[in-house]
Amino acid sequence: MKKIIITSAIIASILVACKSKKETVATAPVAPLDCSNKVLTYNTDIKSIIETNCSRCHNTNEKAGYNFLKIEFVKKAALNGKLLGTIKHQEGFSKMPKMANKLDNISIDKIECWIKNGMKE
Ligand code: HEC
Repeated sequence: MKKIIITSAIIASILVACKSKKETVATAPVAPLDCSNKVLTYNTDIKSIIETNCSRCHNTNEKAGYNFLKIEFVKKAALNGKLLGTIKHQEGFSKMPKMANKLDNISIDKIECWIKNGMKE
């Protein structure tokens, strides 16, 4: 009987130890991007990022259906979720820019805030 009590006490303490370890490993929730007070327009903030990184493929040939020399196509990709999905390398999306480094976080945040704040021209 004593053995059983000791054994269960040991098992219980192991379980508690494992549980508390798991809790400390848990990652903190990611805060949503704060876009308040960010005045971004396509012509001043976004166009150069897109033209530098995307338009060499997505131009008048409309690669994958997008000519990013025109704001209408950028808006279309923004509204159907593919613009952020591809540049953030989200699961289920092609990684863009293709065969090049991921955009820097400042550029990605700018594009996200531009979309969130109503895609001003
Ligand atoms: C080197 C050429 C190249 C560059 C640079 C490039 N793309 Fe693409 N993109 C492609 C090709 C090819 C496809 C179609 C095949 C695929 O999805 O991989 C595509 C597909 C896409 C799609 C459609 C994905 C879908 O699921 O329908 C989007 C949106 C896109 N690109 C956005 C961008 C953006 C935004 C940039 C710049 C940050 C960019 N691309 C840069 C070649 C490129």
